[in-house]
Amino acid sequence: TWSAVAAGPPDPILGVTEAFKADKDPRKINLGVGAYRDGNGKPYVLESVKKAEEILTASNFDKEYLPITGLAEFNKRAALLAYGADSAPLKDGAISVTQSISGTGALRIGGAFLARHYPHSKAIYLPVPSWGNHTPIFRDSGLEVRGYRYFDKKTVGLDFEGLKADLRAAPEQSIVLLHACAHNPTGIDPTQAQWAEISDIVKERKLFPFFDMAYQGFASGDTARDAFAVRHFVSQGHQIALAQSFAKNMGLYGERVGAFSLVTADPAEKARVDSQLKIVIRPLYSNPPVHGALLANAILGDKALYAQWEGEVKGMADRIISMREKLYGLLTNDLKTPGEWGHIKSQIGMFSFTGLNSDQTKVLAEKAHVYMTADGRISMAGLNANNIVHFAESVDAAVKG
Ligand code: LMR
Repeated sequence: TWSAVAAGPPDPILGVTEAFKADKDPRKINLGVGAYRDGNGKPYVLESVKKAEEILTASNFDKEYLPITGLAEFNKRAALLAYGADSAPLKDGAISVTQSISGTGALRIGGAFLARHYPHSKAIYLPVPSWGNHTPIFRDSGLEVRGYRYFDKKTVGLDFEGLKADLRAAPEQSIVLLHACAHNPTGIDPTQAQWAEISDIVKERKLFPFFDMAYQGFASGDTARDAFAVRHFVSQGHQIALAQSFAKNMGLYGERVGAFSLVTADPAEKARVDSQLKIVIRPLYSNPPVHGALLANAILGDKALYAQWEGEVKGMADRIISMREKLYGLLTNDLKTPGEWGHIKSQIGMFSFTGLNSDQTKVLAEKAHVYMTADGRISMAGLNANNIVHFAESVDAAVKG
C-alpha cells in the first residue's frame, strides 16, 4: 500500500536533535534546537514552575476537558502579558483569544482562520530567512507563502531598505508575518524607530500584520520591552493577529502552552470571531491540554510567583548574553579566528546566526561532534563554561579549513 511513499527529509531543526542523540562521543554538543540549558548543560525547570506545580497538586485539580478555546483565565492573562494593561482593545473586550498547542499551534490556528475568513488575500509574506516551520505551517493552512528581504549577508544585519521596498511592493492587504522579538534564526531585530516605520508602511499598504512572539522576555530579559512591537502596532490602530508561546519564557516546552489572539473591532465582532475559532479548532484537536495552561495561569495570576518568574526569565537571558561575550572573546582575542565576529555579541535572544556555511556545519558535526542547523544558526543556550572552549576551537578549525 505504501510502496509509492518516498522517504522524506529529516526536519531541519528537530532532525539535528536526532543526529545528536545518535552520536556517542562524550564531547558532543547540541546547539540545534532552541531549548534553554543551564550552566551545566541540563534542561532547566524554573523554580516558579515548580512552585506552581505544588500549588496545583495541593488544589486537587481534576482532569476534565477544557472548553474548545482553553482555560479562559489563562487566555485573559496571556493577552494581558502580550498587549499590556493599557491596551485599548483589551480594555474594550475586543480581543479574541484562544489557548493553543504552543506557538506552532497558535500559528496554525491563525493560518487556518485567515485562509477561511480573511477576505482580501491568501498571500502571506515571511521574512527571509524565517523559522524553518513557518513555511510548512502556513502552506498546510492553505495560504500562499512569499518572502520579504530581512537578512543582509554583507553586514550580517537587518536589510532594512530591502524590507521596506518589499513590503511596499507587496499587493495591498497581503498578510505579513513579523517576529515580535528575538528573530529566529538571525537574532537580529528592528530598532524601535524601525518598528515605527514598518508600522507606517503596513498601514499605507493596508497589510495585515501577524506577529509571532515566541520569545517574550528572552530578548531583553524584560517582558514589556520585548512586547514593544506588538503594543506599538496595536496603539497605531492595527488589528493584529498574534501567536504566543510559553515554551521558552516559562521553560514549558513539552507542555505545549500558547495562545492565539486576534484584535477585532468591538465585542460583538469578537464574539463572532470566537465562535469561528471554535469551528476551526474542534476538528483539529477538540480542545487543548490542561496541565501546562494551569501552570502558566498560576504563575501569571500570582504576584509573588510572577515576580519570581520575571527574575528567572532575566536570569536565562543574562546567561545567554554572558555566553555571547565569552564566545566573542575566545574567537576574536584568544584564537584570532579569521572573520568579524561582532554579530555574536549584538544578536538578540536564543540564537546566533554565526555565518558558518552548510559545509562547515557538516564538518563540525562529523569531526567535532558539534551539532547545529545547516544554516549556521546556534542555540546560545547550549553553550556553557564546560563546552564553550571545545566549541570555539572547533569553529576556529572549521573556518581555517
Ligand atoms: C527552534 O527554532 O529551535 C525552536 O523554535 C524549536 C522548534 O520547534 O523548532
